[in-house]
Amino acid sequence: MINDKNRIRFALPGKGRLREPAIELLMKSGFNFRAKDRNLYATCTNDDIVFIFVRTDDVPVLVQSGVIDCGITGSDLVIERQTEVKAVLPLDFGKCRLCVAVKEDFNEKNFSAFEGKKIATSFPNITKKFFQEKNINIDIIEMNGSVEIMIALGLADAIVDIVETGDSLRDNNLKIFCEIGNYETQLICSKALADDQRIEKIKKRIEGILIAEKYSVLEYNIREDRLKDAEKIAPGFESPTVSKLDEEGWVAVKVMVPRKETVSVMDALANMGASAIFETKIVNCRL
Ligand code: PRP
Repeated sequence: MINDKNRIRFALPGKGRLREPAIELLMKSGFNFRAKDRNLYATCTNDDIVFIFVRTDDVPVLVQSGVIDCGITGSDLVIERQTEVKAVLPLDFGKCRLCVAVKEDFNEKNFSAFEGKKIATSFPNITKKFFQEKNINIDIIEMNGSVEIMIALGLADAIVDIVETGDSLRDNNLKIFCEIGNYETQLICSKALADDQRIEKIKKRIEGILIAEKYSVLEYNIREDRLKDAEKIAPGFESPTVSKLDEEGWVAVKVMVPRKETVSVMDALANMGASAIFETKIVNCRL
């Protein structure tokens, strides 16, 4: 299956915080496969794709080299690995910060406190550049994981690592000294496949689910002379669909509204005389 040239090779995080949300998103997007814990690949049973489970930080290099066609990884890792790949679609999970973290009782406020200190990290390139720009000399200790324990072990004075919920720092009695950057999870593909229709299809399928999860459809009836004001409150993802009603001077409107705003938009529409206001959740969509 892995050598089947007709199948797109799609890299997924084999472990870590991105694995489960990535698998869940792809399954919701209509790709059927069984992701067993220790399997290194899974064949998609309803499309020409084989999913390959690798380390999240190896995805950018594998995609750049072309041995893998596309994959899910963090934008932090694309930058750290200094890879040239195409960012196809930002995904709505795994947003994170790369931070300098120190022991909870660390009280220094200035970067000069790091001069000559040891910093453990899986992000040596980003870390080096960050401290170089501040004219601080540091000693980088490159790790492949479990970075948070390195201060307690006496190996490092500080760490640079990903923070998402902050649980890992708290569990290890560490705190954030400063943020280096904000990153997100992405679907990436190799530059050679930038315009490939198969990648475009994967993108559209995933995008359909991401939009469906963020938006609802609101339907309501309103007097035609209030339509412009109503459209200001709910302009829609694209423009609203408006149809005439039998009752003279009234129209029916269908519009997409960000799900977190639906209740306040419904209140505002009702206040301007709209009636029969219904919210419908979207299961999937193509726009
Ligand atoms: C990252 C990072 C931290 C953790 C932070 O590891 O290295 O350990 O997530 O997340 P939190 O703030 O929600 O606790 P990841 O799970 O991606 O796997 P890794 O250890 O293999 O890098």
